[in-house]
Amino acid sequence: VTAVAAPLVRAARGEPVDTTPVWFMRQAGRYLPEYRAIRERLGLLEICARPEVAAEVTLQPVRRLGVDGAIIFADILLPLPPMGLDLGFAKGEGPVIANPVRTAAAVAALRDVDVESALGPTLEAIRLVRAELPPEVAVIGFAGAPFTIASYAVEGGAARHFLETKRLMYGAPDVFRALLERLAGVVAAFLAAQVRAGADVVQLFDSWVGALTPDDYARCVAPFTARVIAALAPLGVPVIHFGTGTGALLEPMAAAGGDVIGVDWRLPLDEAWRRVGSARAVQGNLDPVALFAPRGELLRRVDDVLARAGGRAGHIFNLGHGLLPATPPDMVRLVVDRVRERTR
Ligand code: CP3
Repeated sequence: VTAVAAPLVRAARGEPVDTTPVWFMRQAGRYLPEYRAIRERLGLLEICARPEVAAEVTLQPVRRLGVDGAIIFADILLPLPPMGLDLGFAKGEGPVIANPVRTAAAVAALRDVDVESALGPTLEAIRLVRAELPPEVAVIGFAGAPFTIASYAVEGGAARHFLETKRLMYGAPDVFRALLERLAGVVAAFLAAQVRAGADVVQLFDSWVGALTPDDYARCVAPFTARVIAALAPLGVPVIHFGTGTGALLEPMAAAGGDVIGVDWRLPLDEAWRRVGSARAVQGNLDPVALFAPRGELLRRVDDVLARAGGRAGHIFNLGHGLLPATPPDMVRLVVDRVRERTR
């Protein structure tokens, strides 16, 4: 533990900072030519399996953008192969799971995971990145929340309507809950291991919870997210709880936990902050597509987010969701510089 925590960590705890910390979801990845150069020789899962390469890819955006946080290069689906699922990434497309989990027998057949060995390369990448960076730059660990990982495990890949996931949730709620319970155990253990490896803050991605009714979220999903977040509390590291399309779920999401609530761009940040309460920090919430707008329009939108944060302690600047692959890197740098200028 360092004497003075990194600004990102301080903001996550709701403490005052000199300058609003800024980082970007998906800040490592295809919009960077230096990432694409590595991706030409190695697949996504190969990068994740090689700690030196994962560490290098994690550091690329920190060097180029000067952001306040380094999110470790990994994927929310990494815990699935050690549980017995056959995960692959088809070229140029999303994840594919050859043996999706849709029955009680399939849930029962999931293997227990020893995260230290099965997910060791990610933990080693965290150690390498932590050793490389100055203490002012926070290392951000992450995992998918049980529901969002389950949606891939049940669908067998990305889904538009979450038909199989909801079919299981509505038709066999006990099986659905058993699946989320297994995932919650693995995710909690993985995040705790990331903290032991040196992560200063962790983000739980519940990217697709916005597809649920508030009632289904509260009854079938939130308890498992809450269990993950509660398990991390003794470690003393702040947790960022993120989802998209959560306009109807902010209160139950905040109730499930998190020192910081991630907000997408569909809600004004001030309104979202009022709803989650001033005791929480918030993260967000520029529209990722604003980086494709003319400079003046982009800066106007950055300023609007900052104005809604109103200089209050506990704002972490980010997008409302991840950077898109076609984003011009210079526009990302422009946002970093603007946030620094405007909040100094
Ligand atoms: O810079 C970072 O943000 C760190 C790395 C990171 C990746 N995936 C690497 C990746 C993070 C934080 C993730 C999270 C993730 N993975 C989420 C939640 C984040 C979100 O967007 O809400 C989800 C749903 C996944 C699952 C996943 N991985 C999908 C759906 C896809 C395909 C779609 C896509 O963006 O390509 C991936 C692939 C993936 N994960 C890539 C990267 C850089 C692109 C693959 C490539 O390089 O070819």
